[in-house]
Amino acid sequence: MTSSSDDARSTFKFLTRLLIPASVLACASVLAAVAYGNDDRSPRFVEKIPNGYRDWKLVSVAREDAPLDDIRAILGNDIAIKAYREGRLPFPDGAIIARLAWGFEASEENNQTFGRTQSYVAGAPKNGVQFMIKDSRKYAATGGWGYGHFNEGKSADATVLQTCFACHQAIESRDFVFTKYSH
Ligand code: HEC
Repeated sequence: MTSSSDDARSTFKFLTRLLIPASVLACASVLAAVAYGNDDRSPRFVEKIPNGYRDWKLVSVAREDAPLDDIRAILGNDIAIKAYREGRLPFPDGAIIARLAWGFEASEENNQTFGRTQSYVAGAPKNGVQFMIKDSRKYAATGGWGYGHFNEGKSADATVLQTCFACHQAIESRDFVFTKYSH
């Protein structure tokens, strides 16, 4: 017959057999998260320019005064455009919004034809290309959107990318997206 202290001892043994591997696993996954940067609490940024973005559909346009001084187009991939047209919020995973910008320039050629100063057109690309990619798991730390900024194909530093979500938080009510769809 086993005594109650024997029972307690075997229960303890059983628990330690269970808990030691469990805590080793937990430590290992924390270490892996730190090593590979997949801890959902730390921000992740978009590291690659999405394919084919220049062929996406137009959401809207905007003009920024100095110091940015540009004219810009906001484009969406098919998933983003569909959500915009259906008025669906939040945007579903897979939605990508791109912001392109160019110098804002008076067109002498066009003005000559019109006979007065009235034409402004897009000049050379300016102020980089920006992206917001929706992946609610991967980018959980920044409202489900990953932010990317590329100057001539090269990603901006993390110090720049850290400012994106901080400001876009102001428009949380529209899933962090300022631009409205222009019909
Ligand atoms: C100081 C605030 C601020 C910061 C910082 C900021 N944005 Fe924005 N962003 C805006 C506003 C406001 C708009 C709409 C501007 C307009 O159309 O005139 C916008 C528009 C956008 C758009 C088009 C979709 C939308 O939300 O309208 C993208 C994409 C975007 N920003 C990406 C970024 C990225 C990437 C960064 C960081 C590198 C960034 N933004 C930093 C305020 C900010």
